[in-house]
Amino acid sequence: MPTHSSRLVTIERFILDEQSSAPGASGELTNLLYDVALAAKIIAREVNRAGLVDILGETGDINATGDSVKKLDEYADRAIFRVMDHTGRLCVMGSEESKEIIPIPQRFPKGKYVLLFDPLDGSSNIDSNASIGTIFSIHRKITDGADGTLEDCLQAGSRQVAAGYVLYGPSTILVYTTGHGVHGFTLDPSIGEFLLSHPDIRSPQQGKIYSCNEQSSCDWEPAFQQYVAWLKQPDAATHRPRSTRYIGSLVGDFHRNLLYGGIFMYPGNVKRPEGKLRLLYEVSPLSMICEQAGGRAVDGFGNRILDIVPTALHQRVPLVIGSKLDVDEAEAFIAARRAEQVRKA
Ligand code: AHG
Ligand code: MN
Ligand code: MN
Repeated sequence: MPTHSSRLVTIERFILDEQSSAPGASGELTNLLYDVALAAKIIAREVNRAGLVDILGETGDINATGDSVKKLDEYADRAIFRVMDHTGRLCVMGSEESKEIIPIPQRFPKGKYVLLFDPLDGSSNIDSNASIGTIFSIHRKITDGADGTLEDCLQAGSRQVAAGYVLYGPSTILVYTTGHGVHGFTLDPSIGEFLLSHPDIRSPQQGKIYSCNEQSSCDWEPAFQQYVAWLKQPDAATHRPRSTRYIGSLVGDFHRNLLYGGIFMYPGNVKRPEGKLRLLYEVSPLSMICEQAGGRAVDGFGNRILDIVPTALHQRVPLVIGSKLDVDEAEAFIAARRAEQVRKA
């Protein structure tokens, strides 16, 4: 790969360069990633106009996992489908907003890739103009026949061929990986191009930030409660206390911690042991990005997220993700407290 330090590099150029260094690449994945960038621009344009036109607020519908659907959720979902359905690169899609898998319409050719996405993440933030995002995950088709199936969608995260997200913040940033490092591009709206702004992102091994929704901590298991309480106690040797940062928009919280270092947690609780976040649309793709940037992503029960084989499209999973040493530390702390509780019982 050439270095891009002082040159102006569009996402198209960068993806093509990446392809040319992959022996035998057909160009299909390259084009698919470029389609994702196009969908991102379409959604970014609408998000940026959100306060000007009548698209804020709720549709009145409830989606597959029980969340109320905002108008922009629906717009983003539709935009991705319309960019992707006819290109011949996909065999099936899956969206957080659709209960079942989304087939490619019969009149269009089918391809060898599977696209899973959260069209708009953090959508409870839309009306306040805080950061929101889009998350995507790409797998290769594994079944025979032209049409993709549920089995093609239910693959472990370690089998992703690419993953990424788009953050609609003060600027729009697209971050992706194909398993060769993590690269970030910032949209220059005046020319309508994503330009390479964050080549080869490496996350700090340790951070000063922890991110979680502490409102629900009273329902967490005691080991998690004790871990977060421990993070707040001063101790210079273990870099405490840590600062809390939480937007409630996973893409925004994840992206900040990726750059600054830190840990994000969405544990299960007594009412919902599996947590809130969705394995296929949110957790797996961000875990691939995180690992590619030198971090770790686990479920807090000794499992690496990318090793989990999904059994349902909208499966949820507890998540502990971020800087490597922070996740190591959290895992060790929580395991020790659990063991202590078993001994006492
Ligand atoms: P979505 O808007 O796609 O439904 O995702 C919302 C998710 C995620 O972005 C965020 O980390 C989490 O919900 C916040 O949940 P809490 O409000 O429970 O903290
Ligand atoms: Mn989401
Ligand atoms: Mn969403």
